[in-house]
Amino acid sequence: MNSRLSKVLVTGGAGFIGSHLVDALVAGGCDVVVLDDLSSGSLSNLEHVKDKITFYKGTIQDQKILMKASENCEVIFHQAAMVSVTKTVNNPVDSAFINDLGTLFVLESARQNKVKRVVLASSSAVYGDDPLLPKHENMPLKPMSPYAVQKLTGELYARIYNDLYGLETVCLRYFNVYGPRQDPSSPYSGVISIFMTRAVSKKPPVICGDGKQYRDFVFVKDVVKANLLAATEDDAAGRIFNIGTGKHVSINSLWDMISLFSGLKIEPEYSPPRPGDITESVASIEQAKSALGFEPDYLFEKGLKITFKWYKDS
Ligand code: UD1
Repeated sequence: MNSRLSKVLVTGGAGFIGSHLVDALVAGGCDVVVLDDLSSGSLSNLEHVKDKITFYKGTIQDQKILMKASENCEVIFHQAAMVSVTKTVNNPVDSAFINDLGTLFVLESARQNKVKRVVLASSSAVYGDDPLLPKHENMPLKPMSPYAVQKLTGELYARIYNDLYGLETVCLRYFNVYGPRQDPSSPYSGVISIFMTRAVSKKPPVICGDGKQYRDFVFVKDVVKANLLAATEDDAAGRIFNIGTGKHVSINSLWDMISLFSGLKIEPEYSPPRPGDITESVASIEQAKSALGFEPDYLFEKGLKITFKWYKDS
């Protein structure tokens, strides 16, 4: 595939990850179309590029608008989803309409419009709580929430469309993504966005459990980089890749670093562990390295500093 993309569609392009992807695509000279129903995304994330993109307000459950938005596109980056695990637990059916059926509509519109490739946002949630570390793409999967099942279903449909219909598909299993524009407002938001807002308001965070649990935190711009590689590398078609850093950070040391940035030594509060919390998660990114040439650019401290500045200034 040619590394220069012409016209692309980003579903969920007004969201946290989608809007960063839109920035990179616009900067790369692509003709960018965004489809977003603004249920969790926001136009403010696109304010600075609004004159350079075509925006459709609509849902991926509406195939008519999807057909229109993906017309003449070379690639679709499918980021739209009901992203809260808890929301999918509380709304297993409604969320399936969005995450399962919506994904199927995206793939089907791509097929009908002869789009060359679809890059889909999947999740490390598909691994569940298998203690085997690091997580490898070919290890057994154990989805433990409707969200994880829905992401896995999307991957399976993607493979079928790749194998049966010749639509190239690439699935990216995101680990814990963080960065500017991540919404901290729900109790189920990513831990970094929550801790950032606590630090900015000089309040202690609540650490669930002993804080020794760890995660593979990947900066949003590295996730964007992975998407661009997945869209353009010939070897990626029909495959699934973990997107993380291969390194891990405990929740205790995460707070230590954020607390340092805030210039105050604020002691965290501790609460009982979150039910069902996975203690350890870290990605093997060997496949993304070898097939996509993916290498994260942002060391944790660098990404965290940029993120802190954003929360402080906004
Ligand atoms: C993340 C994903 C989720 C996915 C899962 C799969 C996010 C927001 N969630 O969940 O979609 O299913 O990976 O592996 O990216 N914590 C605190 N205090 C807080 C908030 C969280 O101590 O105020 C702790 C949690 O208990 C957890 C860790 O921080 O141990 C990370 O939590 P969170 O950011 O919600 O992500 P995951 O649970 O890893």
